[in-house]
Amino acid sequence: MSNYNIKHLEEYFKVYKKSVNDPEVFWEEIAEEHFSWYKKWNNVLSWDFKKPEIKWYEGAKLNITENCIDRHLRTNGEKTAILFEPNNPSEEAQHISYNDLSKKVNRFANVLKEQGIKKGDRVCIYLPMIPELAISLLACARIGAIHSVVFAGFSATALSTRINDSDCKIVITSDGSYRGAKTIDLKSIVDEALEECPNVQSVLVAKRINTEIEMKKGRDTWLQPLLDKASDVCEPEIMDAEDPLFILYTSGSTGKPKGMVHTTAGYMVYTAYTFKNMFQYKEEDVYWCTADIGWITGHSYIVYGPLANGATTVMFEGVPSYPDYGRFWKIVEKHKINQFYTAPTAIRALAKQRLDFVNKYDLSSLKVIGSVGEPINEEAWHWYNDNIGKKKSPIIDTWWQTETGGAMITPIPYVTPTIPTYATLPFIGVQPALMDKNGNELKGNQVEGNLCIKFPWPSIARTIWGNHKRYKETYFSAYKDNYFTGDGALRDATGYYRITGRVDDVIIVSGHNLGTAPIEDAINEHPAVAESAIVGFPHDIKGNALYAYVTLKETGETRNQDNLRKEINQIITEHIGPIAKLDKIQFTNGLPKTRSGKIMRRILRKIASNDTSNLGDTSTLLNPEVVQEIIENYIK
Ligand code: WT7
Repeated sequence: MSNYNIKHLEEYFKVYKKSVNDPEVFWEEIAEEHFSWYKKWNNVLSWDFKKPEIKWYEGAKLNITENCIDRHLRTNGEKTAILFEPNNPSEEAQHISYNDLSKKVNRFANVLKEQGIKKGDRVCIYLPMIPELAISLLACARIGAIHSVVFAGFSATALSTRINDSDCKIVITSDGSYRGAKTIDLKSIVDEALEECPNVQSVLVAKRINTEIEMKKGRDTWLQPLLDKASDVCEPEIMDAEDPLFILYTSGSTGKPKGMVHTTAGYMVYTAYTFKNMFQYKEEDVYWCTADIGWITGHSYIVYGPLANGATTVMFEGVPSYPDYGRFWKIVEKHKINQFYTAPTAIRALAKQRLDFVNKYDLSSLKVIGSVGEPINEEAWHWYNDNIGKKKSPIIDTWWQTETGGAMITPIPYVTPTIPTYATLPFIGVQPALMDKNGNELKGNQVEGNLCIKFPWPSIARTIWGNHKRYKETYFSAYKDNYFTGDGALRDATGYYRITGRVDDVIIVSGHNLGTAPIEDAINEHPAVAESAIVGFPHDIKGNALYAYVTLKETGETRNQDNLRKEINQIITEHIGPIAKLDKIQFTNGLPKTRSGKIMRRILRKIASNDTSNLGDTSTLLNPEVVQEIIENYIK
């Protein structure tokens, strides 16, 4: 019997139980009944969190694009696969049918082949939210190349680091991008990045903003003429279940970004199955996730999950504030969106605007509204529920990570009763555990601790590209035999989970995961800076904002502090991107340190949050006197 679509709470509990008691039987049935395979697996699951090594559907042969495209052509070829809504509302939306998508992906795949790209090669994609972005991912998957999408808001340095880390041969970009009223010169960012990337042989350039750009001879080629010449038939490469599908970078607590590697079969099965259930997607529905494909949310829930279900998925090029703050709701009305998925930071920004930006539009098509990326605070939850969901469309607060590939703790709408700020229950097959300070699992309800996952799920990242040791240390060393998420959570009396936030040195700003170390490294590049420490503090739109404590070298620095602040933010913009800019920079004579030389961030966090009532134990500090100085010069 198929449990592909859960419709009642009792069914959820029954299926959940099966998925935990008999995971291999359960995941075998799902895979068998809902996907297309060239060859079935020999073994559903083998795993060892000690090594760590995880394999799902070993021995199976498939191509994910066969599942996301070809198999829908027989029955649904004329259905819209991708609905592209441009930045400028007066430019027409594009409806790309499954038939069109198939041809476009095959053409693109053939172009990549002509460029010498083969199975296993890494392809860097640095594109704005235009159809070519989704198509390029699928084109890579078609020929077995590993895509590495870099969010097009990242700087040249961030881009070159990522290109070099995974040794990409080729970069796919565009002349530029539209973002609200602005245009961004993407190609020149790529040019700058490639000065540091000797192994990149070619750059394919999509035309979007039609500006004059420099094309480097022998390296850069316009994409469209190549696509026009290419055949629209391309046989899919036959892939092994565990062949890498993509690399996606996420920041960590040390300097270098982590290239999370996702493999083919398990990722496909899990993203498709979660998509179907967490959105209760029905055949005629129009689904919209506002994320950028540069993040995991876009990979899993704009591209792969929806397309594997034959869904219509909307891609929006623009921003929520352009031409005004009604844009999201205008799009919901225009395309009669049924499922809408966005981030708390967007909800908070929109909640600050006049309600007539919402009330002008007919939102009655909505059935499910979702949230992802950071904890959704109670106020934002209610605003979303009252004004967008009209108290009838359930909110799904979905907790997951780049590393998990798909949603892990989430309500199933119309099945799981929701409570504000609770991600509620684990998804089918997910076995969470909360850990106490001594590393023991907290059993029973009404407990709070660090959130781990005890058992593999199909879309867990398999390694960090080129650094399996770091994978092991980051995720499998803190708690024996468990995957550690880096988040804290509580489980209430009824078994519902509430995510309380990061417990490591990652700060989530506007839903973007930022490691403190890479930002501190960037600040320390400034010649006048001796040392720095970054912490997060609460911000009413971004969720968290960044507060920096900076000590200067004793070089008789005479520059004015405001200029220094500008220069520091400039360096951050160059090294990482504008998303990592500091809201507040406090210059200080020292940073509070333990005797072993570790910066006591706990104290700095409290001061940055303007809460010095109880600084806790400072007796282990080497230099307790700096604390008072820092408090006195706190920046409001
Ligand atoms: C971190 C992962 C999952 C795609 C987007 C972010 C935080 C994510 C929630 C939520 C509370 C959440 C966690 C997590 N997070 N969703 N619904 N409630 N926190 O992916 O960039 O890898 O970040 O985002 O802290 O660990 P990511």
